Amino acid sequence: MFGRLRRAAEQLQHLVHETNRLNGNKIWRWGGVWFTDAFWATASYRLSRSAYLALGKGWPAVRTVMSPALYALRPWSGRCEIHYRADIGRGLRVLHPTLGVVVSGKTVAGENLLLVGGNCIGSRKTLEQGEIQIGHNVTLGANAVVLGPIAVGDGVRVGAGAVVVRDVPDGEVVMGPAAVLRGPRAL
Ligand SMILES: CC(C)(COP(=O)(O)OP(=O)(O)OC[C@H]1O[C@@H](n2cnc3c(N)ncnc32)[C@H](O)[C@@H]1OP(=O)(O)O)[C@@H](O)C(=O)NCCC(=O)NCCS
Repeated sequence: MFGRLRRAAEQLQHLVHETNRLNGNKIWRWGGVWFTDAFWATASYRLSRSAYLALGKGWPAVRTVMSPALYALRPWSGRCEIHYRADIGRGLRVLHPTLGVVVSGKTVAGENLLLVGGNCIGSRKTLEQGEIQIGHNVTLGANAVVLGPIAVGDGVRVGAGAVVVRDVPDGEVVMGPAAVLRGPRAL
């Protein structure tokens, strides 16, 4: 019971840390941060995960009851769908949430995950929890997609527009250049 509550409280501490960072550690910025998509992108995930860790299997039922209210809050929670089962370490940032972000509940990610925007961390087939592994200090450029099962190492930078389907060792930079198609093509 206490373990559950401690882990739920930890999510709220992560949110405070992430918001302070978003605010550039300027305390007066707390006055306006509530009205930014970047705040709600992480806050909606951290609050939902915190409730899940506190309530366990009861959270999906509570969520269902609350779904009309949550739907009404969509304009604030933005275009980001980060599943509450995704286990993401402290320091999550979404730079351009208006581009949208989707993170699967099967994901286990380390600290300081940076999502530029337009990213999907998802699966190619039915997966178990933890079959999408993302290390610490990983950056996904604009519209980069990571599809599991996969393990992306610490410090990896994924270039804008890349689709990653193979494991990436620590510290690598990966990208997916556009292929030039020759010959006329009907649209
Ligand atoms: C992939 C990335 C991390 C590489 O950065 P870098 O190590 O500084 O690499 P460089 O810019 O020196 O480019 C090296 C080569 O990769 C190519 N390249 C760079 N980014 C690329 C990408 N996303 N896709 C395909 N090729 C790319 C460059 O054209 C260059 O090719 P060349 O050697 O044939 O000239 C970076 O280019 C990137 O995509 N960052 C994400 C930025 C982003 O999302 N910005 C949006 C802000 S809103």
